[in-house]
Amino acid sequence: MSNSPTQIQLIQPDDWHLHIRDGEVMKDVLADTARQFARAIIMPNLKPPVTTVDLAKAYQGRIQANLKLLGLTGFTPLMTLYLTDNTSADEVRKAKAEGIIGFKLYPAGATTNSDAGVSDLKHCDAALEAMQAIGMPLLVHGEVTGSEVDIFDREAVFIDTILEPLRKKFPDLKIVFEHITTKQAAHYVRDAVTGGKNTIAATITPQHLLMNRNAIFAGGIRPHNYCLPVLKREEHRLALIDVATSGNPRFFLGTDSAPHAKGAKEAACGCAGCYSAFNALGLYAEAFESVGKLDQLEGFASFFGPDFYSLPRNTKKITLAKQAQQIPDELPLGDATIVPLRAGESIAWSLV
Ligand code: DOR
Ligand code: ZN
Repeated sequence: MSNSPTQIQLIQPDDWHLHIRDGEVMKDVLADTARQFARAIIMPNLKPPVTTVDLAKAYQGRIQANLKLLGLTGFTPLMTLYLTDNTSADEVRKAKAEGIIGFKLYPAGATTNSDAGVSDLKHCDAALEAMQAIGMPLLVHGEVTGSEVDIFDREAVFIDTILEPLRKKFPDLKIVFEHITTKQAAHYVRDAVTGGKNTIAATITPQHLLMNRNAIFAGGIRPHNYCLPVLKREEHRLALIDVATSGNPRFFLGTDSAPHAKGAKEAACGCAGCYSAFNALGLYAEAFESVGKLDQLEGFASFFGPDFYSLPRNTKKITLAKQAQQIPDELPLGDATIVPLRAGESIAWSLV
């Protein structure tokens, strides 16, 4: 494939990290994702969080009902459970039997709706033991929460103080380091010694591939570019671009598209989260094209995720064209609106 094509075909991608919320707003965001992706891992940080198989089944039912309402038949939600200090080994085994795809570790207080998260991983030994034994992946929000740690260092400190000890204790546990944002995380995952086992991977968002932390303060405060983990320096963005476009199967697509109503973002204490779902594939294509690596997009977007999760790759093909798409200033979100990433600007690639 030439490195500057005007059209590319790829096996339909999946989104390995997505927030769609619940209730009235869900159908508005679900449609954007289902237009592009065949499957998505649905994050469990609802209020209250999805901590049991029964809650996940009920949530899945509400998603299916919305898909039906929207007339969307080709999209599959993949369900996760929210790990807590009290998650039992029995719940882990039940989750496996019921098709739950992973458990999400939110250190308590790390991000949106994470108050019920894990206070100390030592409480989770039985659950982690069971996960390791049955091949249930742990999806980690990789940031420490202590107020003494600078917000820009929280991911790097998490690697040294939580992730590395966790991997030492449970060497066969499958771990996805979610939405990585730093050179340290990119290199940690790239260089991790696994004895040939498929035990570590990372997802990368479009905003962390396309923007550095200047984007939060460009000409004034930009709440719609604020997410967690927060955007980092340019050297970190370059390290993410490097691993994402390298063809290394440990790195794959996860948008972390995280909808919040306009008013909740443009506020004295604005919520964290970028809404990238509207044209996420166009954003990723831009990032890969920026370094002449569009030929590596299909592996990152469509192959490495299902391979890590031991699921079949999709078979349907999609086409992306180098056709600028104007992004609306706002989109409907229940009875409010949402400001998508790159609102009022254009994205160079779009889905045909
Ligand atoms: O920016 C974020 N928003 N990061 C997260 O980890 C959670 C997410 C959300 O749910 O809004
Ligand atoms: Zn997330």
